[in-house]
Amino acid sequence: MADEGARFVRDHPRSRRLARDAGEVLVGGVPMRWMNRWPGSFPVFFESATGARLADVDGNEYVDLCLGDTGAMAGHSPPAVVEALHRRMPAGFTAMLPSEDAIAAGVELQRRFGLRRWQFALTATDANRITLRLARALTGRPKVLVFNGCYHGTVDETYATLKGGAVVARNRNVGPPVEVSETTRVVEFNDPDALAAALSDREVACVIAEPAMTNFGMILPERGFHQRLRELTRETETLLILDETHTFCAGPGGSTAADGLEPDALTIGKAIGGGVPVAAFGVTEELGSRLDEAGLLTYRGPDGIGGTLAGNALSMAATRATLEAVLTDEAFDHMIGLSERLVGGVQEAVDDFALPWHVVRLGARSEYRFCADPPPNASVAVEGADGELDRYMHLFAMNRGVLLAPFHSMALTSPATTAQDVDRHTAVFRSAIEALAGVGDQSAENFQ
Ligand SMILES: Cc1ncc(COP(=O)(O)O)c(C=O)c1O
Repeated sequence: MADEGARFVRDHPRSRRLARDAGEVLVGGVPMRWMNRWPGSFPVFFESATGARLADVDGNEYVDLCLGDTGAMAGHSPPAVVEALHRRMPAGFTAMLPSEDAIAAGVELQRRFGLRRWQFALTATDANRITLRLARALTGRPKVLVFNGCYHGTVDETYATLKGGAVVARNRNVGPPVEVSETTRVVEFNDPDALAAALSDREVACVIAEPAMTNFGMILPERGFHQRLRELTRETETLLILDETHTFCAGPGGSTAADGLEPDALTIGKAIGGGVPVAAFGVTEELGSRLDEAGLLTYRGPDGIGGTLAGNALSMAATRATLEAVLTDEAFDHMIGLSERLVGGVQEAVDDFALPWHVVRLGARSEYRFCADPPPNASVAVEGADGELDRYMHLFAMNRGVLLAPFHSMALTSPATTAQDVDRHTAVFRSAIEALAGVGDQSAENFQ
């Protein structure tokens, strides 16, 4: 860590100066605090990013497998989105009126995910917040249920975790409005019995879940779990909301289409605008009718749902272009093929060194973890975590021109990612292992 830390400082003098200057005006020296959570002793300031490559202010170039933690899954500044924005920009960004692009964006979402009626927001957090409100209002039930280790954005009700079987606020949750146990039930992912027990008194308005958990490392659903989740929610008349913000990586219609899932409502953000802020939520024909009958789809005055810039023309143009021309079926074939290649490279290195590590993949997204078996839930995942090794692997990769998502070892491929990019990652990953084993040559030149 000391060697890699020194190397990071040596290679990023301008970022270091900017970080110091930024500290005089921005909280933590960054426009948003989590930008500090990268490995290295200060944040890298980026100069430009196109496709799957990113350049920093010191002239270092990176293969970007973080892709803005999915916000740039379409690749950075995809040409079709740039063109759409160029067309839109001289013609007005936001007017509190609909633009035609919104229809095309809605049609694409409908076609891909199978849900009937759609609305837009600016962030996935907001889409989730709105959907939870609608679920509570419709069912008249007070609680929501989440899976332990979930992340659905900064939504109060979802900042809940299990501690000794009790529902408590996540560590470091800042200023919750009420005790989270008042609003939320939490069960472990892949535990249908606990789920059945938590839903049985019909106090839960909805389950909100990612089809596969992606924010605690990646935790895939066990065979039959989704079927049971759907059965139990139907039996207890609990709504099922799937958050596809990250699992969109599974294919053009996310895990919902890939695995034939049947949510009542679906939320999605980040990638659908090609990096421009936008999110959406959709409901089935049936849920839409029920919401309509309850008067919940008609705006009659401030009701806790909405946002002035939601559905703005710029976001709609970006969403239409991203869905029609960038994250196409063919693009997903390419991305998923490359992700398979990446996983193959990682697995080979792990096997060659007989390491007790594993790698999992969901479509274009892969994740390695430094324990032998994929965990079935977040509690088991915590036991297998190795924060120091995680940081080392990230910093080693960053120092050799590969960006992984911070917080955990996630690698995402985009339509612009190439086999060469993936192979750079494989070479760097192997080299990190060699460095740990004290063999090989880890000089940066090998990876350019
Ligand atoms: C599954 C999921 N849902 C929602 C969000 C919130 O997205 P945003 O921060 O863009 O609102 C995230 C963010 O990482 C996420 O992973």
